[in-house]
Amino acid sequence: MTTTTSSIRVERVQQSRLDTVNFNDLPFGKIFSDHMFVSDYRDGEWTDDRIIPFGHFTMHPASMVLHYGQAVFEGMKASLHEDGTPLLLRPDEHAKRINASARRMMMAEFPEDRFVEAISQLVALDKDWIPPTEGSALYLRPYMYATDEFIGVRPSESYRFCVFTAPVGPYYAKPVRLVVEQEYVRAVPGGTGEAKAAGNYAGSLLPAHLAQQRGFDQVVWMGGPNRKQIQEVGTMNIFFVIDGEVITPATDGAILKGITRKMFIQILKDRGIPVTERVIEIDEVVAASEAGTLQEMFGAGTAAVVSHVSELQYKDKLMTLPPVEGRKIGPMLKRYIDGLRAGKVEDPHGWIVRV
Ligand SMILES: Cc1ncc(COP(=O)(O)O)c(C=O)c1O
Repeated sequence: MTTTTSSIRVERVQQSRLDTVNFNDLPFGKIFSDHMFVSDYRDGEWTDDRIIPFGHFTMHPASMVLHYGQAVFEGMKASLHEDGTPLLLRPDEHAKRINASARRMMMAEFPEDRFVEAISQLVALDKDWIPPTEGSALYLRPYMYATDEFIGVRPSESYRFCVFTAPVGPYYAKPVRLVVEQEYVRAVPGGTGEAKAAGNYAGSLLPAHLAQQRGFDQVVWMGGPNRKQIQEVGTMNIFFVIDGEVITPATDGAILKGITRKMFIQILKDRGIPVTERVIEIDEVVAASEAGTLQEMFGAGTAAVVSHVSELQYKDKLMTLPPVEGRKIGPMLKRYIDGLRAGKVEDPHGWIVRV
């Protein structure tokens, strides 16, 4: 069945797959909902915005994305308000960030209002795919890639933008053991680290694998002279609480500008809790750990919201953080974001969009 709603053509599935899915046992990232949004960039404009049944794409072997890697993406979540309304958290920020990533990769930008409209309509149509339990969500994956059938290094002139969705269960983030990465780097100022570009993730796989072989969950990415400056952890931004002050590395072109990070800074400021964006060197963390003033360390990102750090290895020094039960800042931030996503707490900044 094909209908036209605003300028998005909608073709619904004949038969939903929803009744084959067990919301109480959702493997992460393997189950996809009924529909997806697709738009194609040709001759200088995005055309044929459509919501169609989720399914395969065919690809030309010379598709430029397969060779030169022009591909950017986003990760966000839709959740349910207690009254059953689907909610999106900061879709405007995700729309802006995918375009910032696209600019860095010399790709076409997708208009921000159409991004929010596309996501809203897709989520409204597949609303029943949002798992109702608190902490569960419908994960949204907007992405864009180069489709010119050409070999030769230059920007593609055609692109595909797609959004598909996947129901995911609550993220039980157990505290993580981290190792300060000494050999590899994720990004440098002037590089592509600030873009959510596919290649950045490919480059992170080997160091993450080697760290896991050594018994760690993730690496802490380092930058700056002598690689002393802390950047991020795995695929999250990083926060420290040292002697009552919350510190997160200032973005410098190498660090992804996390939307969770930005919200955390605002929430802390709203509560009058001192929060500083600045360079933080590993030596300062070691000194705080030795002085007993390193109170908390956590990763911040859409997936886990807060991922507490239990241990941090730097060279031959193992630092153990205080138990999570005694922590205040990380758990407060997580409670607040989970509350927002369930429509249970006030939203003074208008971060939530009801679908
Ligand atoms: C490298 C990296 N850093 C940080 C983040 C956290 O960003 P956000 O809070 O927008 O999910 C992500 C996830 O998108 C990431 O991939």
